[in-house]
Amino acid sequence: MCGIVGYTGKKNAVPILLEGLRRLEYRGYDSAGIAVSTKKGTKIVKLKGKVRNLEDKLLSNPLIGHCGIAHTRWATHGKPSAKNAHPFKYKNFSIVHNGIIENWQSVKDELLKSGYKFTSDTDTEVALLCFYDLYKKTGITGAVTMLHRKLKGKYSFLFIDEKKPDEIIGIKSGNPLVVGENADAVFAASDITALLPFTKRAYFMEDNQFFIANGGSLKFYNFNGKKIEKKSKKIKWNVEEAKKDGYKHYLLKEIMEQPDNLNRAMAGRLNLFADELPGNIVPKGRILCIACGTSYNAALCFKYFFNMLTGKSITVENASEFRYQPFDLTDDSLVIVLSQSGETSDTKEALSIAKKAGANTLAIVNSWESSIARMADNKIYMNIGPEISVASTKAYSAEVMLLYLLSLRIAGEIGVSKEEIQMWKDKLSSVPSSCAHYLSNIDAVKTIAEKYYKKKNFFFIGRGIGYPIAVEGALKLKELSYIHAESYSAGEMKHGPISLIDNDFSTIAVAPDNKQRAVLFSNIEEIKSRMGQILLISDKPLDGCDYLKMPKINGWLSPFIYILPLQLLSYYIANLLGNDIDQPRNLAKSVTVE
Ligand code: F6R
Repeated sequence: MCGIVGYTGKKNAVPILLEGLRRLEYRGYDSAGIAVSTKKGTKIVKLKGKVRNLEDKLLSNPLIGHCGIAHTRWATHGKPSAKNAHPFKYKNFSIVHNGIIENWQSVKDELLKSGYKFTSDTDTEVALLCFYDLYKKTGITGAVTMLHRKLKGKYSFLFIDEKKPDEIIGIKSGNPLVVGENADAVFAASDITALLPFTKRAYFMEDNQFFIANGGSLKFYNFNGKKIEKKSKKIKWNVEEAKKDGYKHYLLKEIMEQPDNLNRAMAGRLNLFADELPGNIVPKGRILCIACGTSYNAALCFKYFFNMLTGKSITVENASEFRYQPFDLTDDSLVIVLSQSGETSDTKEALSIAKKAGANTLAIVNSWESSIARMADNKIYMNIGPEISVASTKAYSAEVMLLYLLSLRIAGEIGVSKEEIQMWKDKLSSVPSSCAHYLSNIDAVKTIAEKYYKKKNFFFIGRGIGYPIAVEGALKLKELSYIHAESYSAGEMKHGPISLIDNDFSTIAVAPDNKQRAVLFSNIEEIKSRMGQILLISDKPLDGCDYLKMPKINGWLSPFIYILPLQLLSYYIANLLGNDIDQPRNLAKSVTVE
């Protein structure tokens, strides 16, 4: 969602803040802005549009100053416009904000009664005026504490103060805030990727903490105004990992690097997490796996594989539903949460509910030191470097791989034979090279994309392990191409969806080698009889269907291999339609609001 960056140091803040914003672009946004403490006071430039438009505007209105804050906005309160873009200024303070103030209306009403006037429709301006009002009465520390009592919601704020032109104040409550430091500057951002070009040393703020940075000093406080000591950590990601490497889009790069990333995710893990998860992890009670979006779809693959391997069931829940209905969660449960960003609001809340219930919690995360990684009792990092494109691809395959390995670990603990576990380890070890082999010749997918890109409607169907792959395929297509795509387990078609089939409706059938394939093929015949057009993804062709030929593999490995043509098809179709591939409309990389 929104991205925030701050800088105070010896250099001109503008290029540093712009570089920070460029690195946050991947989160998805609609407006951008910057505020700099100049010799003539705080100056703000902001607009609806992209960071490159902001740069153009700054070329004609250059700003110079050694301290500033900047923002990419993903509209929540008020439509995308220059008026609603951050930063906002009131009296001596300017603000940028990542998050949401839930009680903005009642706070605004109070401020209006006290005579304050507003220039935008945003909750952020309400927070700024509220902060100023409190500051007038109590000074900075009091204002931070009282603000926390007044505002409901989640936020990280950065403020600059015209009266102290080299000072930044950063406040964290609920949304991420990372502070970087080098010999002559302090940087702050909502996301570590914005800091990568500038420093390797970072402080991860906890909730209810704030910092004040000025003239080479950096101090941290809790919300009672008490100074606290924080230890910096060395940033493990490097700036090269966040580059396009000659690819036209990050998405294509991330699809193509999946074989490497699978190797990275698996490295040292064929011991089934013996070092990371010592002891016995099988709970007396239930195993729940909770996530959103693509991570949820990876969890669905887990459900099928785990059940095949152990004969037992796990529950897979959507975090946004689970948080309001945590069923019979107890302290006997093992709760596994999955998140690429480690910041997804619903998943974070689900994790917090699980912790409160006393469950043992395990997070599978990519973003290093993210909130979810730090909250869970145990964590497994994907180790695949930053995922930049908004649509998730490489995190999906890493998640499925780690969940398959986790299934083997649990299977071992509950008595599945060593031989069987070794057989699956061997099969999983061959997955990266099978993916690489498939990706070495993808022309057929390009050709199919040219045939289908003008279609308006798609069903994605599958059965067994083919079903969660179909679900993820449909999600990728709609996110990237904006084409209507729905997924069903093929058995559901006759219970309603088949009424939509005519000669203009396309169905993509995901048909790996599994025991449900024969009946899936019958479902395909039913669609064909109603003149529906079929694209079959399988190692076995069927008359009357377009066909993307897949290699012969064990069907349980299809989440890794069969997802590749689906990711690529979505990519090529979106490209043919001229869409913004790495930042699809209306989407954000890190969904930090409910
Ligand atoms: C889809 C996509 C989203 C995310 C979802 C969860 O391509 O990117 O559906 O998968 O927002 O995000 P994380 O995994 O960061 O919790």
